[in-house]
Amino acid sequence: MSREIIKIFDTTLRDGEQSPGASMNTEEKIQIAIQLEKLGVDIIEAGFAAASPGDFDAISRIAQRVTNSTICSLARAMDRDIKAAGDAIARAKMKRIHTFIATSSIHMEHKLKMTPDEVIKRAVRAVSYAREFVDDVEFSCEDAGRSDIGFLKEISDAVIVAGATTINLPDTVGFRLPHEIGAMVREMSEYTKNRAIISVHNHNDLGLGVANSLEAVMNGARQVECTINGLGERAGNAALEEIVMALKTRGDIFSNFKTNINTKEIYPSSRLIANITGIEPQPNKAIVGKNAFAHESGIHQDGMLKNRETYEIIRPADIGLDITDTLVLGKLSGRAAFKDKLKKLGFKLEDEALNSSFKRFKLLADKKKDIYDDDLRALVTNEMTKATQIFELVSLQLMDCSNGVPSAAICIRKEGKERVDASIGDGTMDAIFKTIDRISGYEGRLMDYRVTSVSKGKDALANVTVKVAFNDNEPAIIGHGLNIDTM
Ligand code: KIV
Ligand code: ZN
Repeated sequence: MSREIIKIFDTTLRDGEQSPGASMNTEEKIQIAIQLEKLGVDIIEAGFAAASPGDFDAISRIAQRVTNSTICSLARAMDRDIKAAGDAIARAKMKRIHTFIATSSIHMEHKLKMTPDEVIKRAVRAVSYAREFVDDVEFSCEDAGRSDIGFLKEISDAVIVAGATTINLPDTVGFRLPHEIGAMVREMSEYTKNRAIISVHNHNDLGLGVANSLEAVMNGARQVECTINGLGERAGNAALEEIVMALKTRGDIFSNFKTNINTKEIYPSSRLIANITGIEPQPNKAIVGKNAFAHESGIHQDGMLKNRETYEIIRPADIGLDITDTLVLGKLSGRAAFKDKLKKLGFKLEDEALNSSFKRFKLLADKKKDIYDDDLRALVTNEMTKATQIFELVSLQLMDCSNGVPSAAICIRKEGKERVDASIGDGTMDAIFKTIDRISGYEGRLMDYRVTSVSKGKDALANVTVKVAFNDNEPAIIGHGLNIDTM
């Protein structure tokens, strides 16, 4: 019997980027999109084109690079947004516009200040205009989870006639329980029949995003919207890796369905996103958390030695995690071994990137005894997503004696010229940023400073994320550094 495809719509680059601290630069977004394509995602929501020129540029560059996944841009139900979305994805091989407007009473009355009839008119106009750019139009009823089902049917009828091919029913505030989502999806899919695909987009405010998505599949949803590592607004979105592995592992229950996901690319995708955003999944996170395959108790270890299935329902290899081969290269490893290892990890580097990554690997190997797969993943990702550098840190000297005055002396190069300055501060960090302000001439406000270790050991490689704001009208700038010295 042929199994029905459940389309996986990944919104890591759009809803995921709305996670506090998760902003990514264009190079980073392109690398993520390439990895999502490799993962087998059907639709990549690459961003929100009208949000900023940077978003527009990232979407259009992804549209030109990715050919095996549909590239989608979000757009509010407004001509300006839809035109930006249509223009940004114009060069994609497969493209979709995703437009939305809220349909719950609370949103229509208080946020939009529009009547239900006005909302329908706006939605119809948005979908018809989007069809001038593409054949594939998704319409989302924002806050569908708290919308009147009669109104959901009415607006769906109208947008389907206008040309929408997918109707998405987001539980925007993560309020619903699985049986409620199941009932809504069943009623909507029986109502729309084969006129449109029913999709769900479940937020995780009550920790039910994945459960709600699975219940939706059981009841007629044929597209699921999700993110890698469950990133997303507030408590995040349903996690792609959990949905896909639940569908696969419980093939006895979901025997009529399959996805196009290559599950062996799940772990590399999760690491890439964590390395780029600096947001690590919680250690006990299902599927991709650091402890997801660790067996601590003696009884469990004994069982595992006798038969892995005693305590393991997923083989690590099925998600692309090689737990037997994590200790890798050292300072005597040559270029060929390095290249071969990267190939095994799924990286295909051009000569220039390979050379610079190898140089960085050698520098690291001088300071760090054991280099693990995760170190290499982080190092190569950092190298591949380097943004254009305007200021370059040449040296940094710190004084932080417990009874003295913390100070920092820094040398920075800009356009070939070096400038040195120093400052004292309320702590080392404060001294560093005061000195950078003096040299750069920009007064930044430090919004976030995060350090996560990439692998284990006292000499572990640290991924440092810094978020600095310059004024209230512009988005904060996020920088990532990778070094064994966290400062
Ligand atoms: O959560 C939500 O409702 C959304 C829509 C824009 C789809 O992200
Ligand atoms: Zn959302």
